[in-house]
Amino acid sequence: MTIRISGTGSALPEMIRTNFDLEKTVDTSDAWIRERTGIGQRHIAREETVASLAAEACRQALSSAGAEAGDAELILVASCSAEMLLPCLACRVQSDIGAVNAAAFDINAACAGFLFALQTANAYIASGMYRNALVVGAEVLSRITDQSDRSTCVLFGDGAGAVFVQACDEPGMGMLGMVQGSDGGRGAVLQCRAGHYADADNEAFPFRDPYIHMEGGEVYKFAVRTVPECIGQALLQAGLEAEEIDLYILHQANIRIIEAIAKRLGVGMERFPHDLERVGNTSSAAIPLLLDELHKSGKIQRGAKLVLSGFGAGLTYGACVMRW
Ligand code: ACO
Repeated sequence: MTIRISGTGSALPEMIRTNFDLEKTVDTSDAWIRERTGIGQRHIAREETVASLAAEACRQALSSAGAEAGDAELILVASCSAEMLLPCLACRVQSDIGAVNAAAFDINAACAGFLFALQTANAYIASGMYRNALVVGAEVLSRITDQSDRSTCVLFGDGAGAVFVQACDEPGMGMLGMVQGSDGGRGAVLQCRAGHYADADNEAFPFRDPYIHMEGGEVYKFAVRTVPECIGQALLQAGLEAEEIDLYILHQANIRIIEAIAKRLGVGMERFPHDLERVGNTSSAAIPLLLDELHKSGKIQRGAKLVLSGFGAGLTYGACVMRW
């Protein structure tokens, strides 16, 4: 028993912040941001919250699957930017959408969070405990980003994406290969202190503010080395070659990272769709946001062979191969 995705959804805040807007607030330029990252703009939450974006993405995913909120048996929300510690985001989403029959909890694996949540849903459903799940990636990273720090504020955006997955026992369909891993020893390269501990006198944490601090170059090297390796392992499990995959849906951190991964895998960039020009790096929301766009525009058809792969703070990384 495995899972297949039967519906997708997404939500983006109304407000857009372009590179030109950022030129007015920090010492940067549209040319620098585009050349180094591929990002042109990002959506920034004002009225929206992580939970409201997640709930909207879930409603769309249910509707796209032809399911009702009451059908959902499990809700997993991946996020690293929830406004509230308690209750967890997934319980608030459950309440907002009226999924009264679901168990709900959060997963924090930063930018690999959606992938970890998807694989968790697969494990639950494969065990027979549940028959379906809503799997969500939702972030309002703008609230944990220092908007005066040009090294991070140009990168991150807000948004949410969701999928509705159902048990699948069709041979050769659904999840065909899954890899996930963590390198906690290197966690210091990408950190953010919890808001309520900001300014607390604790020498274990070098930064006092509740904002993302990143050694960008280290994360870059980690991604370019680790992602092709774990994609290779997932392909091996699936018994597929890199060129047999129709689309590679990667975490949208930086276009240069995606290009380097494509090159290492020996696959043309036309198989690596990207939306970071329009939405920036939305952490755990990046993969499901892109999945929804591709699904709704008809670019993912039944039977398509996909690779999903994410990496981020932790450090965490993972990949899966699936047949839609
Ligand atoms: N505008 C103009 N100049 C800038 C900016 C900016 N926004 N940001 C940094 N610079 C400057 C630096 O100060 C540096 O100047 P210096 O040479 O005088 O010291 C110069 O530009 C080069 O800086 P680098 O950091 O070396 O630039 P790099 O080419 O490495 O690009 C970037 C930086 C875009 C962050 C890149 O390293 C990257 O994308 N890393 C990966 C980040 C990532 O993938 N994160 C994903 C996980 S996020 C999560 O888990 C929440």
